[in-house]
Amino acid sequence: MKNTTRTILNKKGVEKIAMITAYDAMFASLADAAGADIILVGDSVGNTVLGYSSTVPVTMGEMVHHTAAVSRAKPNALILADLPFGRAHYSFDSLLSDCSRLVQEGGADAVKIEGDAGIAEKISGLTKAGIAVMGHIGLEPQQVLKLGGYRRFGKSATERDKIVADAKALESAGVFALLIEMADADCAKAVTEAVSVPTIGIGSGAECDGQVLVCADILGLTANPPRFAKRYANLSEEILKAYSAYVADVRSGRFPNTDL
Ligand code: KIV
Repeated sequence: MKNTTRTILNKKGVEKIAMITAYDAMFASLADAAGADIILVGDSVGNTVLGYSSTVPVTMGEMVHHTAAVSRAKPNALILADLPFGRAHYSFDSLLSDCSRLVQEGGADAVKIEGDAGIAEKISGLTKAGIAVMGHIGLEPQQVLKLGGYRRFGKSATERDKIVADAKALESAGVFALLIEMADADCAKAVTEAVSVPTIGIGSGAECDGQVLVCADILGLTANPPRFAKRYANLSEEILKAYSAYVADVRSGRFPNTDL
């Protein structure tokens, strides 16, 4: 059965939500077959696939391209696409046009937008226009240039209270869920208890309504995964073994063999 904003909302307090990133049809099909509830076409495509050193250079064109590849896999999982760097701070018309592209050209079911209470009014406009929005609070990786690096959020009471207030403002604006990245576990718990929409954590402890990991970290394809990520396979080693065997077979004439 296809997951929708409604099926995701209904899971709060009932069943944990599992979200995995994917950037193409092949890996989206595998995430879907594994039963993921949400497939995130994250702007982490920048660091994992496109060779950028952060998510900042990722463009609208690239996000539409990768979202369309994922949606061609026709997953039952809800397809969630990231809005790239800066776009949430353009005019509302431009933001609506970007989100509409992700939905209409990319085939996304929903759009994820990094930002605090300051963008709640714009998110309210988007949800009124029929765009399903997931908020993204705590660490916002698109702020890396301003922050001078990545850090954990919500350790102090002041920062925790601000994040809870941001979450409530975004909930009032109509988000169907909230992603909380690298927040102190107590802060993520406080947000989860304060809002009626599901929270999806990454590096934010076990008390969220669901979890997300970047596929390359799950599969062991990243050289330096974040400390909170769990590696479930070592595909780098497997792929290297397979490629090396193929290259050796071509060089030695063992491939192709005469029967093929
Ligand atoms: O782009 C991404 O992969 C993300 C992570 C927080 C999951 O937003």
